Amino acid sequence: MTSRTLTVGGGRPLRGQVRVPGDKSISHRALLLASRAEGTSVVRGLSDGDDVARTATAMKAVGADLAGQLGSGETMLVHGAADRLREPEQVLDVGNSGTAMRLLAGWLAGFPWLCVLEGDASVNRRPMDRVIEPLSVMGARVEGRGGRLPPLVVQGGALHGIDYTPPMASAQVKSAVLLAGLCAEGATVVREPLVTRTHTEEMLAACGAAIEVVRQGPGQVVTVRSSQRLESFQLDVPGDPSAGAYWVVAGCVVPGSEVVVEGLYVGPGRAGFLDVLARMGADLSVEHRDATTADIVARHGCLRGTDIGADEVPGLVDEIPVLAVAAALAEGTTTVRGAGELRVKESDRLATVTSELAALGAQVEATTDGLMISGVRSLSGGTVRSHGDHRVALAMAVAGMAAGGTTRSEGWEAVDTSYPNFELQLEALV
Ligand code: S3P
Repeated sequence: MTSRTLTVGGGRPLRGQVRVPGDKSISHRALLLASRAEGTSVVRGLSDGDDVARTATAMKAVGADLAGQLGSGETMLVHGAADRLREPEQVLDVGNSGTAMRLLAGWLAGFPWLCVLEGDASVNRRPMDRVIEPLSVMGARVEGRGGRLPPLVVQGGALHGIDYTPPMASAQVKSAVLLAGLCAEGATVVREPLVTRTHTEEMLAACGAAIEVVRQGPGQVVTVRSSQRLESFQLDVPGDPSAGAYWVVAGCVVPGSEVVVEGLYVGPGRAGFLDVLARMGADLSVEHRDATTADIVARHGCLRGTDIGADEVPGLVDEIPVLAVAAALAEGTTTVRGAGELRVKESDRLATVTSELAALGAQVEATTDGLMISGVRSLSGGTVRSHGDHRVALAMAVAGMAAGGTTRSEGWEAVDTSYPNFELQLEALV
């Protein structure tokens, strides 16, 4: 992949409306479930990033029939059914997508096939023991490099249910175990001390799977039973809040801005960044279209620092880089605690957010499991690097929009995994 640079002229107000890509988490799951469901599912507005394209390619490799396109305004027809699927002849390459690797590991574990999952250099550094362990206890044979790193070899087959409490708050781990549980004998139970994004359990219920969710304080217990036949579905994928957060924060921090972000998913486990920005004093309007989708209007104004606690992290885990940009431009101090998971994302985000924001004049310190940011109210343009991480690249582009002078964002190609059209949309808004 050739390296690209985005050049952002700081201080230009953003005004207008923007429609972000379809939610990435929902898109992966829609393809995985539709491929197993009986009949034809119709899915509109799937994410057009490379991550979701990798899951689509993997589903074709196991025999699902996909017709149509990824992207906003596009429709994909998925002709599924478990009995048309077959062992893939090729290695399944997830590119940069840790979500695809972990969800696929769980999905594949239910079939009596030998599959190999590989990814890029960033995925190859990400811990997979978090799915290897529960899937092995369920009866699959899953091997990784050194027992914990990709590539993974999955020999699926006769599984039995387990009662599992993931050691970290992770929707990917929960989802991998639940997807394997669809093919397991007996009940599979996942106990979450803190609820993470709920797409898998909700979408499984919508497909008629035998699934039950019991809320317990800030946590929940999800039980799934063998459900060999899933029903096909029709779905309009809502806008990705993790992508929308860049524009919402940009609207808040670039003087003179007013940005309308259309049709964002704001359901359970995804809208925590809006609560944080509201606490920071942001000028936001949230206009609901229905229970889980809203248009967000963000206007520039002064922000103040806040504390983001461990219990909030699962609901905004991917938005911390861009919230750190808001915090750097706020008055007062912001702390983030209980976010050690950021160390094992596409980059070590506690380290990369710290180094790149510092390059623009911010005062940021990484702690073992969080960030301490002293707001400086203004940043100066400079050169930042993505470290191969789309969320770092996009957050730093927002910092550059608010900074004085010009910011060069190197390694910009990283954004292709989730948001290939960001630069075009930025041009339309300034
Ligand atoms: C995701 C869950 C989160 C998130 C990732 C997408 C998902 O990861 O960071 O971008 O779709 O389930 P973890 O489950 O590892 O926290």
